Amino acid sequence: MTSLPAPSWIVGCGKMAGAMVEGWRRAGVDLSEITAIRPSGTPVEGVRTVTSLPPGNPAFVLLGVKPQKLDEVAPELAKRLNSNTILVSILAGVELASLRHRFPAAGHILRAMPNLPVSEGRGIVAIFDGQSHDARSVTDDLFAPLGNVVRTESEADLAAIGSLAGAGPAYVARFIAALAKAGVDRGLDPALADQLALGTVLGTATMAAARGESMASIARRVASPNGTTEAGLVILDAELDRLVGQTLQAASRRGAELADAARIE
Ligand SMILES: NC(=O)c1ccc[n+]([C@@H]2O[C@H](COP(=O)([O-])OP(=O)(O)OC[C@H]3O[C@@H](n4cnc5c(N)ncnc54)[C@H](OP(=O)(O)O)[C@@H]3O)[C@@H](O)[C@H]2O)c1
Repeated sequence: MTSLPAPSWIVGCGKMAGAMVEGWRRAGVDLSEITAIRPSGTPVEGVRTVTSLPPGNPAFVLLGVKPQKLDEVAPELAKRLNSNTILVSILAGVELASLRHRFPAAGHILRAMPNLPVSEGRGIVAIFDGQSHDARSVTDDLFAPLGNVVRTESEADLAAIGSLAGAGPAYVARFIAALAKAGVDRGLDPALADQLALGTVLGTATMAAARGESMASIARRVASPNGTTEAGLVILDAELDRLVGQTLQAASRRGAELADAARIE
């Protein structure tokens, strides 16, 4: 059974770190060594939850606060870390150098960019470890049950992955909602439209993954020349690339602002 190093702390266990805990729990990972730290004390299913750092020194830390809260938690946390500690930060934007500056004693610092479907073991976890391979066996075991683990060679790539995969579930959710709303506008019952929109996206993604088929090929197989789908694609294609491009650009810009804010000159 995979287990986390003892003791493990999750400092900030809200939506994203909470989804990782859920993914581990579903995969049968032993959570007995985890303590979740969150000021509200809101329980995290399957793990001991406390409102402030417990006594002692953690072997593993998952840092899951908002980037804006980093300087609130860093001074106290930094004092508890030593050369045996592996610290994994999921903070969007905040660079390895900024983390190293705040946690000078930590043995290993890695950045991970997960996305929410890790809760179902269907997420993406991108990892940047600054070429330090030492902590890999621990983190590989930990992230594998959460979905697709991708290693990146640069923080620029990690930022791009964050704008695509980290933020992506929100964009996909909006598309599914828009599909359903357009169905309602065509006279469908709202509950049925929701079911059809979700089922269509899920079915298409499952089929593409199972067959290894390109999106262009799928679109071609649905849209016959001068048919109904093609009439729709004329409208969608006119705007979609530009819109999605600008969406990821805006997310990247915000990531760069967060990186700047955390940088210590
Ligand atoms: N949401 C996503 O899809 C996603 C994807 C990729 C990366 N991320 C990254 O994940 C991080 C967390 O995002 P989130 O969406 O999970 O936010 P969130 O739900 O607001 O979670 C933040 C957590 O930090 C805790 N916290 C706040 N102040 C703290 C303190 N002083 N000490 C310890 N814990 C503290 C909060 O505690 P309470 O619960 O008690 O309020 C909460 O559990 C961010 O850095 C974000 O960039 C998020």
